[in-house]
Amino acid sequence: MVAIAPEKTLATISVYAAAKLNLTLSVLGPREDGFHELDSLVVGVDLCDTLAATKTNDGTISIRCDDSALVSADNLAVRAARLLQDEYAVPHGISFELHKVIPVGGGMGGGSSDAAGALRLCNALWSLGLSDERLARHGAVIGSDVPLFFALPSAVITGRGENVTPVQLSWSGWVVLACVQTIVPTPDVYQAWSQSPAPGDGGRHQNALLAATRASAIMDLTTNDLEPAVFTVAPEVCSAFDAVTALDLGTFRVSGAGATLFRLYDEEKAARCTARTIEEKISSLTTQVVAVPFGACPIRTKE
Ligand code: C5P
Repeated sequence: MVAIAPEKTLATISVYAAAKLNLTLSVLGPREDGFHELDSLVVGVDLCDTLAATKTNDGTISIRCDDSALVSADNLAVRAARLLQDEYAVPHGISFELHKVIPVGGGMGGGSSDAAGALRLCNALWSLGLSDERLARHGAVIGSDVPLFFALPSAVITGRGENVTPVQLSWSGWVVLACVQTIVPTPDVYQAWSQSPAPGDGGRHQNALLAATRASAIMDLTTNDLEPAVFTVAPEVCSAFDAVTALDLGTFRVSGAGATLFRLYDEEKAARCTARTIEEKISSLTTQVVAVPFGACPIRTKE
């Protein structure tokens, strides 16, 4: 009788996968490939999923997650791993464990950030030796927002989102995130934009925004051409926006294709005070106060 040795697993490593916010978002028009031409200034924020990975010696790719809805072959981390495995004929597999913190469908790029993390983990565990630039190019096949996660803490993205130029803000501080408990489907938002297209300013205020040193000045320069479309697709986000506006706490903005609302603060204390007021007055919203801008973290060996 031949004894089959149990599958050998190797070291587990992990990454923090940060969320992003769009400080400006101009939609310049539809493209022939069905996507939309964008110009957007994005920043990373210190709200992170944790993605851990273990190399396995069979070829299987699997994921466990505390949000069971995300355990699927369509999970962007799984798709990212499969892409690298196919492209480089990798004989090994990988088993992911994802701890989800970034709201799903919240316009903060959580799934894309997880995919970028997965590419970095596969690159390390499978000893592929690929540069971040190369990984970002592979990431663009998985999703338009994946490449930007190789360029945080802040970057300007153009094209459908895959052309990424790192930039530096003159400001750092805090953001209040007001999370609407809903998932806004991104394709529906772009389709709604197409129903009444209003081409954006092409990032005209970006330089002023990069030079600004006060949160209130930055908020005055933020834009999001998708906001009206988000409100059409998800009236609950519109209601939340109206409710927050009625509290007279200053202007809030929608991130990306929604549903998260945000406002920047210079001081953590003021940010926490706003977050507390929102939670007290609007029961449908949960809040987070996190530091911004926030960059990529090194890969860690899991204890
Ligand atoms: O690239 P990603 O898979 O994240 O895009 C999801 C959907 O969002 C696309 O299928 C498309 O409908 C829309 N989209 C777009 N223009 C972009 C990015 C996304 O129309 N620049």
